[in-house]
Parts: sequence; structure tokens; C-alpha cells
Amino acid sequence: MVAVAILAAGRGTRMKSDLPKVLHSLGGLTLVERVLNSFSEMKPQRCLVIVGYQGDRVKNALNSFGDLEFVEQTQQLGTGHAVQQLLPHLEGFTGDLLVLNGDVPLLRPETIKLLMQTHKQYQNACTLLTAQLLNPQGYGRVFCNGQNLVKEIVEERDCTPAQKQNRRVNAGIYCFNWPELAKVLPKLQSNNDQQEYYLTDVCSFLEPVMAVDVEDYQEILGVNDRKQLASVYYILQTRVKDAWMAAGATLIDPDSITIDDTVQLQPDVIIEPQTHLRGKTLIGSGSRIGPGSLIEDSEIGENVTVMYSVVTNSIVGANSRIGPYAHLRGDVKVGASCKVGNFVELKNSQLGSSTNVAHLSYMGDATVGSRVNIGAGTITANYDGVNKHATLIGDGTKTGSNSVLVAPLTLGTDVTIAAGSVVTEDVPDDCLVIARARQVVKPAWRLKSQPE
Ligand code: UD1
Ligand code: CA
Repeated sequence: MVAVAILAAGRGTRMKSDLPKVLHSLGGLTLVERVLNSFSEMKPQRCLVIVGYQGDRVKNALNSFGDLEFVEQTQQLGTGHAVQQLLPHLEGFTGDLLVLNGDVPLLRPETIKLLMQTHKQYQNACTLLTAQLLNPQGYGRVFCNGQNLVKEIVEERDCTPAQKQNRRVNAGIYCFNWPELAKVLPKLQSNNDQQEYYLTDVCSFLEPVMAVDVEDYQEILGVNDRKQLASVYYILQTRVKDAWMAAGATLIDPDSITIDDTVQLQPDVIIEPQTHLRGKTLIGSGSRIGPGSLIEDSEIGENVTVMYSVVTNSIVGANSRIGPYAHLRGDVKVGASCKVGNFVELKNSQLGSSTNVAHLSYMGDATVGSRVNIGAGTITANYDGVNKHATLIGDGTKTGSNSVLVAPLTLGTDVTIAAGSVVTEDVPDDCLVIARARQVVKPAWRLKSQPE
């Protein structure tokens, strides 16, 4: 039987933020969501999240996770005090308790497995993760004998200069035999530099306490300030990008690219510099994205090119070309083999297949058929100042340059709109529409003031 507890009650003073630290975002997920994901495969019997500072906000942010029990720590008196709050909730529980700091977001599931296995194998009272850091600054130092048995953990601010030299640090990830921990938790005292109840102090009451070094120290990096948030983000990015390159994607100048770990790339995708892929995005094989593009929560088909463009909440069909300088947003669906070109904005609109909107256009709330050519500068006037209205454009229709389609409006199939038209009435199939003032040419005409 395993229960998990996540320490998420602290404010995170060093972040200098109104937002609780564990709700700061790291590549599309909050820190605490990442911690929850790191053990989800383990399927523990119980999962308790200790909340305090802006607890309701933390609870709300986690409402998509089922089966969480929230435990209130009304005053944040330290990590030991936080775990003491579990006592009434875990009364009679006889299994192991895995404790995770809510601000250690890069932990791998395999590492947690190794910790739990070691804990079982040696029947420890407590097993904790440690790492040897070149720069151990800010972490509690772990002092062990030759068999990795922990003698003491000393917070950096309580260390003597000699103790500070120890580079073995506490990751803030522990597995406890709960009944034994429950017995000693009330013994904690706050006689340290911060006047807090430290969870690490239980080690002096428990036996045996064993340290397990992680192989990759990066996994245990904690986020206490914005600089650490940035360096953890960089590590996460490196992990994600290395994995996609190994899986067959080309990244040109990877350092200039960011990819959320919720993104999926098919083989032979090419990501050009200064491109950012976010959220639930899928890029189909053979597609070339960038340079200079942002794709968020979108599905890009196979062999698509997207250049210097922004695509959010949209779907783009195979073999289509987007950009340069296009903006697709708010549920756009572009069919196969379409061209959406320079300075075109599409919002909540569908294009059939082989349709072109190549220059300087806005299509909002429009349903456009296949083989349509939207001439340069065609605009759907979809908003009357109060409501949005739809425009329907049939297959094979062509709009002339600088047409204004005043919605609500339906154009049939194979309609031709003359350039410069302002179209206010529906048009049946196969028609030519000219909706502009006829040109007037006055021969032999001069300005009156102009001499002969
Ligand atoms: C803690 C460890 C330190 C370790 C480091 C690893 C202690 C005393 N120290 O230090 O040995 O090297 O983590 O990252 O445990 N929290 C609460 N309630 C509180 C205080 C904190 O829930 O009253 C939560 C915080 O929200 C945070 C976590 O506990 O998620 C760690 O707290 P933090 O103050 O960041 O501890 P560190 O100083 O980093
Ligand atoms: Ca911390």
C-alpha cells in the first residue's frame, strides 16, 4: 500500500510573485501538475496534496486530476509541519508514504520506482533521493556513512562552512514507512535558523534512513526563484528536443526553438529556427514549420509548410502552404492543398480543398468551399457592431481583389465577383456580380485653375 503526499502549501517567497510557486508554469504545465504526472503510472492508493497559501487557487488548478485529497496547512511552519497535517488523515494507514516537494518538476517515474524498490529491498524506515551537485547552493546537505546510511541532513543556512563543502544534497523526495514516521513526527522542533519544523529532522529519530543518488542530477533540481525556473525550463526543453531529434525530426538551430512536451511530431518533420510549438499540437510527417512561427493547440497535416505565421486552435490539411505572415485562430479548418498567404487572417472559418486565400484578406466566420480563389484584399465584413454573421462561399467561386462580403451572405458555386465589389445580397450559382460604381471617364478635362 502506498500513499503519496505533495507539499504545495508554501508561498514561494523567493519567486517574488502573487501566484503560489507551485502554480508557476513550466512549458505549458504548472510545477505541481508536473509533480503529479511524475508518479501517475504508479497508481497509489491515496494521493494527498498539502495546500495552504492561496489553497483554493491551487485546488482549482488541479480539478482535472481525479481522486486527490486536499489537506489544509493553515500556517506554513515548514515542511515537517506540513507532513504533520497528514496525521489525522492517515490514521490507521499501514503502508509507505511517498513525499514529494511540489517544486521539483523534472523527476522521472523510473527514479521514483528505484527509490521505492530500494526502500522495500532494505526495509528502511526512510529512503530519500540525493544527488551530488557541482553547485549545491540552496539545498540541504546530506551526511552519510559508507553504506549510504544517513546520519544527518542540514539545511544550507544552518551549515557550518565545513558542512557547506558537502556536495551531496537532499532532493526533497522521500519514501517513509508511515507508521514509523507517524510515531516520530510530533517530536520535531523548530530550533533552526528559520524557526521552522523541518521534515528532514525526522531522520535523526528513524532507523535505518538510506540515501539513493539519482543518476541524472538534473531531475532533482528544485524551483525556488525565477532563475531556477528558467534553468529548469532549459533542461526540460533539451530533453524534449533531443527526444524528437532521436525520433526523426530535424531541428534547425534547436536553441532557438521551443517545444512543449505535450506536442507530437511525426517523422521527417523539419522545424526551422525561431519556431515555438505549444499545447496539444501535432505536426504531420514531411511538414516544414518556420522559420519564425508559433503553432498552438493545432493539428498540421502531412507535407504542409508554415512560414513566419501564427496558428492557434486550428487544423491544416495535407500539402497546404501557410504564410508568410498568416494568422489562423479560433477553430480554423484549412483543407488539403490550400494556400493561405501573406497578411491573411482566418478566424473561425473553414476552407475546402485546393482553395487559395493568398494575399491581404480576412475571413471571419466563413465557410469556403473547394477550388475557391479569394482575391487579394477580400474581406468578410462579419461584424455589425453587435453580432457576428456567417459567410458561405460555394465551390469554384472567385472573388475579385478588394471585395467586401457583407455578412450574413451566401455566394453560390462558380460565382465570380468583380474587383472592388461590396456584396450585400446572396448570389445564386454561376453568376457574375459587379457591385461597384461604374467608371466615369471625362475626355479633355482639366482642373479649372490649371492654365491651358
Ligand atoms: C527543501 C528541503 C531541503 C532540500 C530542498 C530540495 C526541508 C527543511 N528542506 O528545502 O533539504 O534540499 O527542499 O528542493 O525540507 N512547503 C509546504 N509547507 C511549508 C513549507 C514548505 O507545503 O510550511 C512546500 C513548498 O510549497 C515546497 C516544498 O514544501 O513545494 C519545499 O519547500 P521549500 O521552502 O522550497 O524548501 P527548500 O528550502 O527548498
Ligand atoms: Ca524548494
